[in-house]
Amino acid sequence: MKLENKNIVITGGSTGIGFATAKAFIEKGANVWITGRSADNLQKASAKINSPKLKTVVSDTSNLAGIEVLRKAVEEDQIKIDVLFLNAGIAVFASIEDVTEADFDAQFNTNVKGSFFTLQKLLPSIKHGGSVIFTSSTVATAAQLGSSGYAATKGAINKIAQVASNELAAKKIRVNVVSPGPTQTEGFDSVIPHLEAKEYLASVTALKRIGNPDEVAKAVLFLASDEASFILGTELLVDGGYTTYARK
Ligand SMILES: NC(=O)c1ccc[n+]([C@@H]2O[C@H](COP(=O)([O-])OP(=O)(O)OC[C@H]3O[C@@H](n4cnc5c(N)ncnc54)[C@H](OP(=O)(O)O)[C@@H]3O)[C@@H](O)[C@H]2O)c1
Repeated sequence: MKLENKNIVITGGSTGIGFATAKAFIEKGANVWITGRSADNLQKASAKINSPKLKTVVSDTSNLAGIEVLRKAVEEDQIKIDVLFLNAGIAVFASIEDVTEADFDAQFNTNVKGSFFTLQKLLPSIKHGGSVIFTSSTVATAAQLGSSGYAATKGAINKIAQVASNELAAKKIRVNVVSPGPTQTEGFDSVIPHLEAKEYLASVTALKRIGNPDEVAKAVLFLASDEASFILGTELLVDGGYTTYARK
């Protein structure tokens, strides 16, 4: 897998899946830009990865002003992007009766609007032959209780990615989706804090365990690489069998 000196932009790269993916790309010799809202978390991520090939950008993807900060950073660094990993996301689990307007808007603004407009604004900087990967979720398919708002954002992402894969094929840009199942991250811990709930989620995967972010990172690197040169418009499940098992 040749990723040396490729330019990779990852939204939401300070923790969890984005962080694991940034680390994996750096280990392959790529140059990586990661974003997040918290400068402190970005600093911690940077210290852990400890590479001159990693750059951090404080950018809130949920609004166009924040996305503009990222666009300008890319412009100032005068790079063409080989891989854009649209990964920043938040989840609020609640029954339909309990979902607040604020939670609904925050999820749609971050997950859907953020991914969509980051793609739109960075598109002129993406190389012909580049790759775009969206992070969706298995909940876009499995109708998990309490996931209505979050699952709807991921369903929207899947559809945006499909249309983008058709529109961008003319520029030889491949667009794909990676859909993690339950994965042990900082975000997962805050959404699913209780051990019993984690054990339940592990029990409804075929492999009977929660995934780890490195396993998602490997799938992202594959989709980003030339090994996946004929793959676009696909959703790659990295879920230990959660999707098929839950449907039984
Ligand atoms: N973990 C799972 O079980 C799982 C399963 C399926 C899908 N996913 C998806 O995987 C992606 C990553 O999740 P994760 O579990 O790795 O979560 P995480 O550990 O909470 O990481 C989320 C990252 O996104 C950043 N972020 C959040 N809101 C942002 C915003 N408005 N602007 C810019 N950055 C923002 C966070 O940094 P700041 O907080 O500093 O902004 C952090 O770097 C998400 O799209 C999530 O929906 C996760």
